[in-house]
Amino acid sequence: MNHLVSPSLLSADFLNLGDDIKMLNESVADWYHLDIMDGVFVPNISFGMPVIKAIASQATKPLDVHLMIVDPDRYVEEFHKLGAKVLSVHYEACTHLHRTLQHIKSLGMLAGVTLNPHTPVSVLEEIICDADVVMLMSVNPGFGGQKFIENTLDKVRRLKKMIVEKGSNAKIEIDGGVNFETGKQLLDAGADILVAGSFVFGAKDQKATIAGLKNL
Ligand code: DX5
Ligand code: ZN
Repeated sequence: MNHLVSPSLLSADFLNLGDDIKMLNESVADWYHLDIMDGVFVPNISFGMPVIKAIASQATKPLDVHLMIVDPDRYVEEFHKLGAKVLSVHYEACTHLHRTLQHIKSLGMLAGVTLNPHTPVSVLEEIICDADVVMLMSVNPGFGGQKFIENTLDKVRRLKKMIVEKGSNAKIEIDGGVNFETGKQLLDAGADILVAGSFVFGAKDQKATIAGLKNL
């Protein structure tokens, strides 16, 4: 099965964002990963609505929005209006996750649930058939350029098993520390979608790096 590559714009050149969007449009990237942080759920603040609006006006592929914010229900409709096609919330930030996922899907977006590195995949047992995407954080959320947490590979295997056993259609997305080496290991373990920030935007030839991730 063909996997997807979703470069994270957190590591883009914000002084020349238009150039980076153009590069992604011309590349074999599948989705554009946008990291939204509120300084409360994670210890960092990234970018917000005006920047997403500008990105959406130039992007030719789906926006994969990763909400690292408390109480994400407050913003589901607004992100839909801004052009999100995939909207992922954190398990740890949702009191009524089932309701949140249904809300996202009712607007025609793919609904994603994200787990922090310390959260076991077993908490998803009762919700796995309601999620379009499960995103496993392979670093602690908040910053790009961190080291891949090896335990993620076992989590991917356990999650894949659960998805098959429950008959879920959920895709497995991985976020953090992805490069050619960890990307290959993740795909072998059962991952479907690779997010990569610093590895793509820190590369000399960014398009070739995206193509390399796509061809793993
Ligand atoms: C971290 C973000 C990631 C980040 C990944 O909180 O969710 O999407 O951009 O960056 P790399 O690929 O550099 O680990
Ligand atoms: Zn992310």
